[in-house]
Order: sequence, then C-alpha cells, then structure tokens
Amino acid sequence: MKVLVLGASGATGFNVVTQLLKQGIDVKALIRNEEKFESIKNSKNIEIIKASILEIDNHILNQYLDDVDAVISCLGHNITLKGIYGKPYTLVVDTLKKIVSIINSNNKNKTIKIVLMNTTACINKLQNEKFKINENIIMKIVRLLLPPQRDNELALKYLIDIVGINNKLIEWVAVRPDTLINELEVSEYTVYPSSIRSPIFDAGKTSRINVADFMVSLLKDEKLWEKWKYKTPVIYNKE
Ligand SMILES: NC(=O)c1ccc[n+]([C@@H]2O[C@H](COP(=O)([O-])OP(=O)(O)OC[C@H]3O[C@@H](n4cnc5c(N)ncnc54)[C@H](OP(=O)(O)O)[C@@H]3O)[C@@H](O)[C@H]2O)c1
Repeated sequence: MKVLVLGASGATGFNVVTQLLKQGIDVKALIRNEEKFESIKNSKNIEIIKASILEIDNHILNQYLDDVDAVISCLGHNITLKGIYGKPYTLVVDTLKKIVSIINSNNKNKTIKIVLMNTTACINKLQNEKFKINENIIMKIVRLLLPPQRDNELALKYLIDIVGINNKLIEWVAVRPDTLINELEVSEYTVYPSSIRSPIFDAGKTSRINVADFMVSLLKDEKLWEKWKYKTPVIYNKE
C-alpha cells in the first residue's frame, strides 16, 4: 500500500508518516519544509516531495497520485496571524477539491481512499447533529472571526454533499478529534459516530498520535474501514 500524506510536516501529519513507516507502508510525504524529516528521510519506504499542495500543477499532482492507494490530509492553517487570516483562506477544501478532481478525471478504475482530518467543531447534518442554541451563538462568532473554521466546515460539506457515497473512484472518512494535545505514545482512545460532549463548553482531549494511529488503522484494517466509510468518527482519549 502507498499513501500520500498532505500536511505531513504538521504535528499530526508527522505522526501519521512515522506510524505508516513503522507499519512498513510506503509513504509519499508532501511538504514545504524538509527540516523535520531529517531523521526519516533515508527510510526506504518514504518519498519526500517538496512542494506546496495548492501550487502544484494538476498534471504533476496527477503523477504523484498515480500509484497511491490512499490520501491522508492533515492540513490545517498555521496558528499565526498570517496562517489564520492570510491566504489561502480555504486551504483544506481547495486541496480536497483538487485531489478529487484529479482522481475523477483519471478514470483509472481504482478506488482511492481519502482520510480527512476534521474537527468536532464541524457537525454532520446527515446524522442530524445540531449545536444547542448557546453553542450555535458561539459557533457563529467563531465562523466569523476564524476563517479556518469555515474551511474545515466547507471541507466536510464537500465530502458529504459532493463526493458523497456513490463515487466509484473515491471512498472517504473524515476523522473528528476534539481538543488536540501532544503525547509521545499511543494511548487508549474511543471512537464514536458523533460527539458525546460539547466541543465548546465541555471539550475532551485527543492526542495527535492517537489520531494518527486511528487513521493508519483505518487503512490497514478493511473491517474498520467498512465500519467508518462515508462517516465522520469522533475520537477522544480514554480518560
Ligand atoms: N487545535 C485543535 O485542538 C484541533 C482540534 C481538532 C481538529 N483540528 C484540526 O486539525 C488539523 C491539523 O492540526 P495540526 O495541529 O496537526 O496542524 P499543524 O501542526 O498546524 O499542521 C498543519 C499542516 O498544514 C500545512 N500547511 C499550512 N498552511 C499551508 C499552506 N498554505 N500550504 C500548504 N500546506 C500548509 C503545514 O505545513 P508547514 O509545516 O509547511 O507550515 C502543516 O504540515 C487542522 O485542520 C485543525 O483545524 C485542530
């Protein structure tokens, strides 16, 4: 299996890359800055591609996608003024659109799995999820003040409404962690179809390394994939 990891230099993306390598899975890591990859760049299972995803010519990206079985996107806006308020405002959804359009135009008769890193701050309307009135007020403000929230919402909506469940070339899962924390080791975690606590007033914790473990497990374990395919699992660390 070969996996293209987007946002591979990020805190979660790098965990995804190292866990894929540990499992002996081939990785193509798309990164803008190679610094973090010093320790793993000589692994025989990794191909490092230095590029910025939205700037890659579609023809070239098509070649990168040619031999991959799955794409994991851990992209997110950098937590800096420029990252949050500067361009690209819709990094996550625009990347998704680009990948989906290339897979669709490829017509290769091969199904590619897409795993998107999303958030409990996005709701899945297909599952009748709703924010409570007080959560809704806060979310309206967050949406207005923080463009990355809108980007994550648009990305989830794109998977649900546009890619949908009938695309023969694409299967997908959108993984929704709660408040992200850094841990060095994988710990016990639980996965639910929807949030079991308020992401605003009672947020839980999710280690990035656990998100990576779940994403990699989804690709390794066909039964797990079938269970969560076209769904938006919420993942929390076990307390
Ligand atoms: N914070 C939370 O509690 C929380 C909770 C749930 C979900 N999330 C979501 O989880 C996702 C990932 O979180 P994280 O903490 O792992 O992210 P992160 O460490 O900030 O990593 C973001 C990744 O996106 C890349 N990136 C940023 N801007 C880019 C651009 N313009 N073009 C290309 N690549 C770009 C970064 O590349 P460079 O290294 O080159 O900058 C990096 O690889 C985010 O979408 C976030 O919204 C966050």
